[in-house]
Amino acid sequence: MKRISKITMETKDEKRISQKQIQAFHKKIFDFYNKHKRDLPWRKTRNLYYIMVSEVMLQQTQVPRVIDKYNEWIKTFPTIQELAEAPLEKVLKAWNGLGFNSRGKRLHDAAKIIQKQHKEKIPQTPEELETLPGIGPYTSRAILIFANNKDLATVDTNIRRIFIHEFKLDEKISDKELKAIAEKVLPKGRSRDWHNALMDYGTTILTARKSGIKSKGKQSKFKGSRREIRARILKHILDKKTITKKQAEKFFPETTHKIDEILEELMKEELITKTKENKYTIRETK
Ligand code: ADE
Repeated sequence: MKRISKITMETKDEKRISQKQIQAFHKKIFDFYNKHKRDLPWRKTRNLYYIMVSEVMLQQTQVPRVIDKYNEWIKTFPTIQELAEAPLEKVLKAWNGLGFNSRGKRLHDAAKIIQKQHKEKIPQTPEELETLPGIGPYTSRAILIFANNKDLATVDTNIRRIFIHEFKLDEKISDKELKAIAEKVLPKGRSRDWHNALMDYGTTILTARKSGIKSKGKQSKFKGSRREIRARILKHILDKKTITKKQAEKFFPETTHKIDEILEELMKEELITKTKENKYTIRETK
């Protein structure tokens, strides 16, 4: 019988990474981790929902700011069902301080979909997870890695920086190529520890400053930004229930951003709605 050989499309970078190099890399990262691993609350659980919460919070917010918010969140919404059934106002209050309020709203929407369409069970494949709001290729894999130790690889900014440094890659390397390298070097059966170890190594040893490798999507400045105005408007509504356009305009009298447009944007994202009295308030959906 004729054997059909599997055609693998290895890139140049992938090809030149030898097994010996991979073994030395594993040893370096795991030796560091065994001595210096961080004690983080989401590392003490295997609960898919808790891990999903932590990963969505960590998407754009630094670990020290996430820790307390995560602990409070799982006390306030201990199950996916309680999150799904909570009013949006309560969800946004619990999210307050993490930034990018629409992420909190998307997590709430994801919980509603899981409750209605998945019988309260969080899907367990990256493809299904990615159909949920706020869950992209990085987060879907991270959830399954940290909750289930699934043999998957994922690349965040820390991991990208480590690979570029360790394997002397071009900083312009594509996400696709980086993913292929991540899969090649993944130690099978240890994906949870491996990814935790890489993140710890990248945060404490091989930082952006020490490596000279720039992050790809650096966050823009908050002060004076559209994001700051959005956050201020929402905070006012959460504290006082409503806001008028006039009140919102008074917060930032000198801004060149258009308050009208920002209010429209918040309505489009279904975070707020306009009342009969022309005031803006949190939009609750059934
Ligand atoms: N950043 C994203 N996910 C993380 C995690 N699980 N631990 C530490 N930092 C992270």
